[in-house]
Amino acid sequence: MSGSIGCAWWLLPLLCCNLIAAKEQYHEFVIREVPVERLCRSHDVMTVNGQFPGPTLEAEEGDTLVVDVVNRGRYNVSVHWHGVRQMRTGWSDGPEYVTQCPVRPGQSYRYRFTVAAQEGTLWWHAHSSWLRATVYGALLIRPRADAAYPFDGQPARELAPILLGEWWDMNPVDVVRAATSTGAAPNISDALTVNGQPGDLYSCSSQDTAVFSVKSGETNLLRFVNAALNTELFVSLAGHNMTVVGADASYTKPYTTPVLLLGPGQTTDVLVTFDQPPGRYYLAARAYASAQGVPFDNTTTTAIFDYGDGVASSSPAMPTLPAYNDTATATSFTTSLRGLRKAELPSRVDESLFFTVGVGLFSCSKGQLCGGPNGTRLAASINNVSFVLPSAASILQAHYHGAPSGVFTADFPANPPVQFDYTAQNVSRALWQPVQGTKVYKLKYGSVVQVVLQGTNVFAGENHPIHIHGYDFYILAEGLGNFNAATDTAKFNLDDPPMRNTVGVAVNGWAVIRFVADNPGVWLVHCHLDVHITWGLAMAFLVDDGVGELQSLEAPPPDLPPC
Ligand code: C2O
Repeated sequence: MSGSIGCAWWLLPLLCCNLIAAKEQYHEFVIREVPVERLCRSHDVMTVNGQFPGPTLEAEEGDTLVVDVVNRGRYNVSVHWHGVRQMRTGWSDGPEYVTQCPVRPGQSYRYRFTVAAQEGTLWWHAHSSWLRATVYGALLIRPRADAAYPFDGQPARELAPILLGEWWDMNPVDVVRAATSTGAAPNISDALTVNGQPGDLYSCSSQDTAVFSVKSGETNLLRFVNAALNTELFVSLAGHNMTVVGADASYTKPYTTPVLLLGPGQTTDVLVTFDQPPGRYYLAARAYASAQGVPFDNTTTTAIFDYGDGVASSSPAMPTLPAYNDTATATSFTTSLRGLRKAELPSRVDESLFFTVGVGLFSCSKGQLCGGPNGTRLAASINNVSFVLPSAASILQAHYHGAPSGVFTADFPANPPVQFDYTAQNVSRALWQPVQGTKVYKLKYGSVVQVVLQGTNVFAGENHPIHIHGYDFYILAEGLGNFNAATDTAKFNLDDPPMRNTVGVAVNGWAVIRFVADNPGVWLVHCHLDVHITWGLAMAFLVDDGVGELQSLEAPPPDLPPC
């Protein structure tokens, strides 16, 4: 269906030209279980339309997407369009109990949103329990037909998106349920995957290893998504450098590197020139595991890049990947990214926030299972508040109807309750215990918000991929240790900072982000390691309406699922 239908073009020729360029596209996502065989065993997994990974959505900037999610599975589900700004359309953002109640088995819900002023690679995933282990897919946003990529040398082709994932040799919903009931850490995954396939280094997997056919001499656009639940990933392609040109659907200055780092939630677009001797080359990914002494999936997933010259008998060349704990390489990758254009950012700051992010422990109370360290339950928090999802209504509904009582409170603290040496080797045990709450931080429409995200060494320091729904933000600076306003403010890049929707806050380090609160609604902020959001490493911003319709949240759609 064309967006130009019904347009009074004789009255508004300019507006109409824009409308004609932008299309509306319709999709049906039927959530259902299908058997999938990996690692020599078959499991019934939740999928979209029976596909694993799910379908790729392809849009042009300005398009409107209408997606009917029909739940024919046995779990509640909701779908999040990760990185889509959802201007005024918070009802379509997807996180269950934050912007909507889940879609129950047998029910459906129509998501409707426009992808505007964003180009590159985003993705979609279930935002309910751990269903996103198998319910995910790419969302590609290309320049409009009359526009071009802003980088030198248009790629001859783009390859199929490269979705990095994580596979459990059991039902992932059972994995998280077991952890939630005992308070212990959930099982680590059994495989990492490229486009759903573990690859040659795992049992019963070689015959299905993902293969990308390339042509000698061509430059191609490759789009990477880290859809893994709990694993940050280093990625390399044997014999080839990659030139990063975008991340999280924002363009970057070209940056050439042998290795990428993607935290869960992040995407990276790269150009690769296939100028090596004809043959086959492994793309490989494995963990960047920054937490000391914490178990992680230390396997390596591979795919094959094949020049298609018949030299198939020799085994592909393997790239060298950084060590699992190579924080120096992780830091040098993230600090090398620069925005393509000059930042458009007011120099004033209206809200200066300081959020500690980290893991902690609840001491055991009567009647609970306490399988965490020393008879505790694992927890995680921002500013010592461990986020709890409501159940009676979504936060957005309660806000819209002016009835927060019993659903949320608007007293999320702007600063941690206690200041301490956040990254010290031995943080006092007295500081390990967060308090539970469903708290939001209110922002006035149009306010300029700066957040210092400070990792802590409570329980175990770790790199946290912090994601904000409904917003892209500039990353002004990042560093190791404690943020020190007196010395670190001078390091802010206000000229060409990278813009992202997910920032990896360095292990025992910090990142400073800034954005303008120009999108009214309720927007979840959380660590994109699912194990940490499960433990409560989340909060939400509640952004008020501005003046007039164009600065106000739309009315809820009629089929919004009830709780
Ligand atoms: Cu992709 Cu709430 O996240």
